[in-house]
Amino acid sequence: MVGFGPGKVILLGEHGVVYGEPALAAPLSIGVTATALPAERCRVVSPKGLSAPHRRALEEAFARAALLTGAPKVQIGLESELPVSMGLGSSGAIAVALSRALLAASPLPAKKRPHELEVALAMEQVFHGTPSGVDHTTSAAGVPVLFQKGKVRPLTAKKPLDVLVALLGDRPSTKATVGGLRERQAKWPQRYRRQFKEIGLLVREGAAAIEAGELESLGDLMNLNQGLLAGLQLSSDRIDQMVRRLRGLGAHGAKLTGAGGDGGAIIGLFTDASAAVRTLTREGVRCFSSRLAG
Ligand code: MEV
Repeated sequence: MVGFGPGKVILLGEHGVVYGEPALAAPLSIGVTATALPAERCRVVSPKGLSAPHRRALEEAFARAALLTGAPKVQIGLESELPVSMGLGSSGAIAVALSRALLAASPLPAKKRPHELEVALAMEQVFHGTPSGVDHTTSAAGVPVLFQKGKVRPLTAKKPLDVLVALLGDRPSTKATVGGLRERQAKWPQRYRRQFKEIGLLVREGAAAIEAGELESLGDLMNLNQGLLAGLQLSSDRIDQMVRRLRGLGAHGAKLTGAGGDGGAIIGLFTDASAAVRTLTREGVRCFSSRLAG
């Protein structure tokens, strides 16, 4: 039995979504595949090269998911095409892939089986503490979504949505970046609430732009969102440089995606990203393009 969970990019609204504002996110075409084979007991086989803390977290998360799904007698292997710890939702994709494989093998009667989102959330809570849920919800939805805590609205894109994803390398953990911002907002709650509200407004306009096929407008919203993220101290010199580079290569808009802080992944929205991918690859930048919809 096989379960697949795609990775994701956040087009607009990371961090604000932790404080109840909406976010706009979409699945990548690449992700994580979980393959379950009959076994004596329910277990996960950690992928090779996983660090000890990551392995412990995976085993703890898996134990929770196994409990919720009646601990089917399978051993599950994982294969990921996603770069890890880059802000592309690899843990959310692992959570969705594993919950799909576990539910497919579950001995529980259909009526007693939990929803895949419930199982995936239990795992994400081990990986990230108190996630908004946008990563695993987008992975499970498999289409662009407008997400706000507990609610998800699938979006139909009028035009293809093509992004270039540039990988800058190591970044602080999502937990650390979200925690740092939480400390600043706890000191000056009203000031930060205003910023999150503004991000929420950009997100709502972005959802309308996707549905109307207005790529130029969506790109402009991404640029404005990047400005707000930089104001929240979630950007860095190397992020800013890559954002400018993507705009220079013809992106309608560009921004960091995911938790940010430093490193991680930068996205640019393009009508056709192929020339920009070729140019950056020649320069030694790790990057790829992905069609998010259409
Ligand atoms: C992580 O992909 C997005 C953040 O908003 C955290 C979250 O939503 O849990 C930074």
